[in-house]
Amino acid sequence: MLWNRRHLLTLEELSLDEIRHVHATAAAFKRDLGRGGKKLAALAGQTVVNLFLEPSTRTRLAFEMAARRLGADVISFDAASSSTTKGETLRDTAENIRALGADMIVLRHSAAGSPLYLSRLLDIPVVNAGDGAHEHPTQGLLDTFTMQERLGSLRGRKVVILGDILFSRVARSNIHALTKLGAAVTVVGPATLVPGWFRALGVTVSHDLRGALADAEVVMLLRIQHERQMVGMFPSLGEYTGMFGLNQTRASWLNPKAIIMHPGPINRGVEIDSELADGPNSVILEQVTNGIAVRMAVLSLCAGVSPEGDQDIQ
Ligand code: CP
Repeated sequence: MLWNRRHLLTLEELSLDEIRHVHATAAAFKRDLGRGGKKLAALAGQTVVNLFLEPSTRTRLAFEMAARRLGADVISFDAASSSTTKGETLRDTAENIRALGADMIVLRHSAAGSPLYLSRLLDIPVVNAGDGAHEHPTQGLLDTFTMQERLGSLRGRKVVILGDILFSRVARSNIHALTKLGAAVTVVGPATLVPGWFRALGVTVSHDLRGALADAEVVMLLRIQHERQMVGMFPSLGEYTGMFGLNQTRASWLNPKAIIMHPGPINRGVEIDSELADGPNSVILEQVTNGIAVRMAVLSLCAGVSPEGDQDIQ
């Protein structure tokens, strides 16, 4: 049995085989999407609720498209007009959504551990769409899926993650997936945002951008997350850009074949210049597109539906 989880909460807890199974399932869905295959019936009759209590563009829409593609009904919770604004708790909100007939909840929340909390409370699958600075597992899965499409096996490949590592759930999920897949990961940025204790996760910690970029095959930029920073971690955005922003000069230190990634949203001109974000080495929009197939895989696996059993995606 390659997958027997009802929830996707973290990549830290997934085995290498489970990560590979999600990728293989996503690849089958992507082939079907590429053939213009018709809507599938895997989640027909089920209702997926996107419970997003933090802003999102890519993740929410990709989950919505993935669930619809699998035949589910989808409801996207509107936090701004909901009773959470009157103080209703996450627990009460989720239990009411369940009482209304939801069959699966996709949760984004500012509190680390909130998906785990709901998974223990509810009798339906819970999928983590980003919990505070903890994890963003589907982002890590789609990022590694995209890297493998471009590079093949990630074993021994050098991946540099550059920027706000400390506050990044994307960095944590990618680190867990990449190290299991055998990549050599270096995290780079100012010492305040890239503390030495990240070495405990099996990565190299560097504050030397030029040295780190020299033999990188992948460079993943991360957004400076103003909303999570309680104290100033560097003097100014301009100073950060001056030291660590990826511009043409710094990109010239890279192998010409290196791919450039970013989970979005991009702060153009801060962590990356537009000419690189939109340039030939960028796979940023491929990441977004792959988010649909990867989330189709996650939703169907957590629902206990065997995609291999669906003749439409053979
Ligand atoms: N990558 C990502 O999580 O983007 P959104 O916040 O737009 O979902």
